[in-house]
Amino acid sequence: MVSEVRAASGVSFQPREGLAERGFWQMAEPPESQLQSSIREDSVNGQNFLPVPPYMIFPRTVGGFRIYIKQGGRYVLYATEQEQFTERHRRELPEYGVKEVYIQTDQKPDYDRYVEENLGRILFSDDPPLEERAAIFYNASLGVIRELFQRSQVQDILSRTQLDRVLRLVQQTMKFMASEEALKRLAALIRHDYKTYSHSLHVFVFSAAVLQTYDFEEKDLIEVGLGAILHDLGKSGIPQEILRKCGPLTSAEFEVVKTHPLRGAALCSHLPLSNQTTNCILFHHERMDGLGYPAGLRKDVLPLAVRVISVCNVYDSLTSSRPYAQQLTPFQALSLMRQDMEGAFDLEVFKRLIMVLSGAAVI
Ligand SMILES: [Fe+2]
Ligand SMILES: [Fe+2]
Repeated sequence: MVSEVRAASGVSFQPREGLAERGFWQMAEPPESQLQSSIREDSVNGQNFLPVPPYMIFPRTVGGFRIYIKQGGRYVLYATEQEQFTERHRRELPEYGVKEVYIQTDQKPDYDRYVEENLGRILFSDDPPLEERAAIFYNASLGVIRELFQRSQVQDILSRTQLDRVLRLVQQTMKFMASEEALKRLAALIRHDYKTYSHSLHVFVFSAAVLQTYDFEEKDLIEVGLGAILHDLGKSGIPQEILRKCGPLTSAEFEVVKTHPLRGAALCSHLPLSNQTTNCILFHHERMDGLGYPAGLRKDVLPLAVRVISVCNVYDSLTSSRPYAQQLTPFQALSLMRQDMEGAFDLEVFKRLIMVLSGAAVI
């Protein structure tokens, strides 16, 4: 039993009762702050700090960035750049009720690199336990996708660096969703907040799971996984007052919303995306009966990958807390898709989504 947390500065602090027994990573839903690690910043004496959940500090690695803990409103150095993280670090932080560690904003690129270099290996190892690996996946992916959307809003094209980052994420994580058990843990972490970046992550998760019930080559899986993450990129060009409007859109507003697939493709037009990835961006609102947009394509020309994204896209939208409609339970969403959206979806894909969701104990 560790008697105190040994901060690099020599400062120690006392355990909080009960947290060690409960297991920090077993909380069904991480607090907002853990998922918003690159949004919230604290500034003290001109230094900016970002909160990071302790489970993002992986044992047997060297971070290359300083880690701080907060005590009595002060940031105290806990680990230096060269320090090797050990089992002790992993155990003692949650054991003592530390829900966040902090890194300095100017070292965020080092932290990002550290996470991205270790993510693939960590996800597919036996240690840490699956609950924790699911939380690591969710936190790391959300960070990458959130930045992608933030940057595309200010840069109005997607940079090659951003694309490579997302591609690397897909390559490292796609297979994680093939496991029913992993999906079960991920489902518990999903926040139904309907932010475009979290929606994009969820569509990636569900699509990856459904796609892997088919016999796709790995190269195709990666291309479609990338398409799932990028499918709503064009929404970054749609005014927030339309996207977040309470109540029905006017027909003029809906016409603006309908431009997002083309806007998304335009944002990526200078990049070497495969046809499969581009199809996911362009055609995820097409319907099997030809009543979708932007082209009114029918089932015979809609690729299977697009049909998968289309089903997962609607499922995640309906189960999210949208400003203009009530959030549905998984069962209500699937019933509505089956009864009220007849003709929209590929029924085989729809059945496979149900199979995946029931395997993950979502329904
Ligand atoms: Fe969309
Ligand atoms: Fe979407």
